[in-house]
Amino acid sequence: MKMKILQSLVWVGTLFLCVTLCFTLDTEKDNTNRDPTSNLGSAPEGRSTDKEERQADTNDYENSKSDHRTIDVTDVEDSQNLADIVEESQGSSGETTTEESHYSTENDKTLETLGDGDNTEESQSSSTGHIIIVEAESQSGVSGADVDSKWESKEEKFTEEGQAKPMPSPGEIQGRDLYEAAMTLLNETKQDSTQAYTLLQSAAELGHPLALQKVAWAHLLGNHLSPNVSRASEIFEKLAMAGHADAQMGLGFMFATGIGKNSSQAKALVHYTFGALGGSQLAQMALAYRYWSGISVASNCETALTYYRKVSHTVADEVSLNGNWVVQRVRLLDEVDNPGSTSALLDDDLIQYYQFLAKKGDVQAQVGLGQLHYQGGRGVEQDHQRALNYFMQAAEAGSANAMAFLGKMYLEGSSVVKQSNDTALKYFRRAAEQSNAVGQSGLGLMYLHGRGVPQDHKLALKYFTLAAEQGWVDGQLQLGNMYFSGLGVHRDYKMAIKYFNLASQSGHVLAFYNLAQMQASGTGMVRSCHTSVELFKNVAERGRWGERLMEAHSAYRTGRHTQALITYMLLAELGYEVAQSNAAFILDRHETQLFRQGGEGFSRALMYWGRAASQGYAVARVKLGDYHYYGYGTSVDYETAAAHYRLASEQQHNAQAMFNLGYMHEQGLGLKQDMHLAKRFYDMAAEANVDAQIPVALALAKLAFLFSFKYLEDFQWLQLQERSLEELLGPDWDIYLMAILSVFIAVLMLFRRPPPRLAI
Ligand SMILES: *[C@@H]1O[C@H](CO)[C@@H](O)[C@H](O)[C@H]1NC(C)=O
Ligand SMILES: *[C@@H]1O[C@H](CO)[C@@H](O)[C@H](O)[C@H]1NC(C)=O
Ligand SMILES: *[C@@H]1O[C@H](CO)[C@@H](O)[C@H](O)[C@H]1NC(C)=O
Ligand SMILES: *[C@@H]1O[C@H](CO)[C@@H](O)[C@H](O)[C@H]1NC(C)=O
Repeated sequence: MKMKILQSLVWVGTLFLCVTLCFTLDTEKDNTNRDPTSNLGSAPEGRSTDKEERQADTNDYENSKSDHRTIDVTDVEDSQNLADIVEESQGSSGETTTEESHYSTENDKTLETLGDGDNTEESQSSSTGHIIIVEAESQSGVSGADVDSKWESKEEKFTEEGQAKPMPSPGEIQGRDLYEAAMTLLNETKQDSTQAYTLLQSAAELGHPLALQKVAWAHLLGNHLSPNVSRASEIFEKLAMAGHADAQMGLGFMFATGIGKNSSQAKALVHYTFGALGGSQLAQMALAYRYWSGISVASNCETALTYYRKVSHTVADEVSLNGNWVVQRVRLLDEVDNPGSTSALLDDDLIQYYQFLAKKGDVQAQVGLGQLHYQGGRGVEQDHQRALNYFMQAAEAGSANAMAFLGKMYLEGSSVVKQSNDTALKYFRRAAEQSNAVGQSGLGLMYLHGRGVPQDHKLALKYFTLAAEQGWVDGQLQLGNMYFSGLGVHRDYKMAIKYFNLASQSGHVLAFYNLAQMQASGTGMVRSCHTSVELFKNVAERGRWGERLMEAHSAYRTGRHTQALITYMLLAELGYEVAQSNAAFILDRHETQLFRQGGEGFSRALMYWGRAASQGYAVARVKLGDYHYYGYGTSVDYETAAAHYRLASEQQHNAQAMFNLGYMHEQGLGLKQDMHLAKRFYDMAAEANVDAQIPVALALAKLAFLFSFKYLEDFQWLQLQERSLEELLGPDWDIYLMAILSVFIAVLMLFRRPPPRLAI
C-alpha cells in the first residue's frame, strides 16, 4: 500500500513538473489569461459593453463579485490540492448520500420527460435564446465567459502548437490536408465514415495529432476501426506526453475502468484533472461527475459546479448557434423487457407509412416529417432539403405550422435556404394571423432583434406572451429572457423563473441552462449548489457527445456487445445514468468476453447499478437489493438487500421492491418475520402498479393459506401435531407452490399483455 502511494506521488510529481513547465512557457506568451484573479482587475470585453446595465443593478453586481471570488478559490484549490486529491482517492468510497438521491428523484422526472421525446415540439429552439443570459453572465461577471475564454485560448494554443510551427515539414502539411479532407467528409450529413477513417489513418501515420486522437478513440471504442485497445493506449500515451488534453481523457478512462491498463483510480483522477485543465470537455464532465457524487474523491459540490458550468456553457453556445438536437436515451432493460415499447426510434415501417400519407397530401404527415427532417433524431436523419420540401407542400395547403417552420428556416438560413429576413417575416406573419404559436414566437423574435422590422420590445413581449400562453416552449423561453433582463417590461425574476420552469418542463436546454445560472448565482432565488449542479449536468449531457449513446445502442443491436459495453462505460464515466444502467445490464447478462474471470462482471455491474441507483433510477436500486439478496458480486446480505428495497419502495414507490419486502417479511429474511407487515407490503405493491396485482393476489392467497394452516395447527384440529407441512410435502413445499402459482401467472400474463402500441 505504502509503495503504491509513493509510486503515485512520484508519478504525480513528474506530471506536475511537466505541466508547470508547460504553463511557465505559456505564461511568457500570454500572461493575463491565466491568472484568475487578474480578471477582477482588468475589464474583460463582455463586462465593459454592458456598463449601463450593470450600474442599473448594483445588487446583481455585488452578487457577482462574491460569486466570482468563490469560483476563483475553487479553481486555485484544484491545482494546489492535487496531491491531497490523490491521497483522498485511496480512502473514500463510491457510495453517495441519500440527500443526493433525493435531488435525483426530483430531477429524474424531468429526465424522463426529456428522454421519451414524445413531444416533437420539445426540441425546437430559437437561434437567440441564449443571448440574454450571456448578458446576464457578463453582468454578474461570474461566468463561464471569463473562465471559458481562459480555457478556449489555452485550447487554441494547443492546436496552434500542432499547426503553426515555423516550418511545417512536407509530411506535416500532407497530414494536415488529409485530416481536413477527412473532417470535411465527416461533416457532411450523409457521412462516409469508412473513407474518412481511411484518410484519418493516413494522416495519423504522418503524425497529425488530431488525427491520431480520432484514430485512438476509434480503436478504443471499436467504432469505425477495428478494436485494438493496446494501439489506442500507445497513441494516448504518446499524445498525453505532448500535452494533448483529449488523450489525457482517454488515459484517464482506461485507468478508471481498467481497460488496457491496470485499474487505478488515483491515476485516472490525475489524467482527468490534466485533461480538464487542458480543456477537454469530456474530462471536465468526468471530473465534475466524480466530484458531484464523490467517486474516489471527497464529494464537493462547488468543484462539480465549476466544471459542469464550463461544459454547459459550451453546450449552450452551440445550441443557440445551431439549434437543439435530441439525445436519445434508450434503456436496454426496457427494450428487452417489453420490446416495441421504446418510442425513441421510429420504425421504418411507420416512417414509410407517413411518407405515403404525405405523398397523398396529408398535411399533418407532411408537417411531422418536415419537423423530423428539420431537426433530425429518433432514427431520422437531419435533412433540410427534404424538410423544406415537406414544409412547402404543407404551407401551400394552408398549414400554419408549416409556414411558421418555413419562417424559422429562412430566419436561420442554411446551405439549403438563403437567409432572408423578409421571407421569414412574411411566413411568420401568415402563420401568426392564424394564431399559430410558432409563428407568434417567430414574430416576437423579429421584433426583439429588429430583423426586417423596426426593433420594438413591447411588440416582441406581446407576441411571446401569446405564444407562451399557447404553451410553445420558444415563447416561454423568450418571455423568461425578457422578464429576466427587463426588456419591454419591468424586470421580474419571479416571472422569469416561472417561464424558464415552464420551458424546462418541455425539455428546452437553454431553459435548464438559464435556471442553472440563476441557481448558481442565487439570482431571484436562494442559491443552491445542488440544484444548480443537477441542472448544469442535464445541460452538459445534451452535448454532441450524447450521440455516442446511440452509437453504443446500435453496436448492441448488431451484436457487438463488447463495443457497446466500452462505449457505455465511457458515457457512464461522464455521468450518464442511462449509460450506467446499460453497462450494468450488459455485464449482468454476461454478454461480453470482457471482465469474465472471477465474477468480475457481477462486481462491476454492482458498481454501475449503484451509481445509477444514486442518480434516482428505481430499477437499479431494486437490482442492488437483488445482488445483495443473491450474493452476486458481493456476499449475501439480507439486511442490505432489505435496505435497498426499502429505499426503492419509499422514494420511488417501486412495486417490485414492495413485493420483495413483503416476501422478506413473510420469510423473516433480513427483516422481522411478520405476516401482517408482509400483507401490507403486498397490498402496497398491488396499489403501486397494476401489473403487480396478479403476483400479489397469489402471494396473498399463499399468505391466507399459511394463516389458516397456522390457525389449524395452533388449535390442533388436524392430526398434524407432530407433522408440519414441511414433512408432509417435503422441505421445498413452498417452491412447488410458487412454481404452480407462477405457471398460473404466466398464463394470466399472456392473456393480459396489452397489444403493442403504435407510437409517434
Ligand atoms: C464542420 O462543421 C462545423 C460546423 O458545422 C464547422 O465549424 C467546421 O469548420 C467544419 N469543419 C470542416 C473541416 O469543414
Ligand atoms: C494492435 O496494434 C498493435 C500496434 O500498436 C499491433 O502490433 C497489433 O497487431 C494490433 N492488433 C490487431 C488485432 O490488429
Ligand atoms: C498489470 O500489473 C501486472 C502485475 O503488477 C503486470 O504484470 C502487468 O503487466 C500489468 N498490466 C498492464 C497492462 O500494465
Ligand atoms: C437580417 O437582419 C439582421 C439584423 O438586423 C442583419 O444582421 C442581417 O444582415 C439581415 N439579413 C439580411 C439577409 O439582410
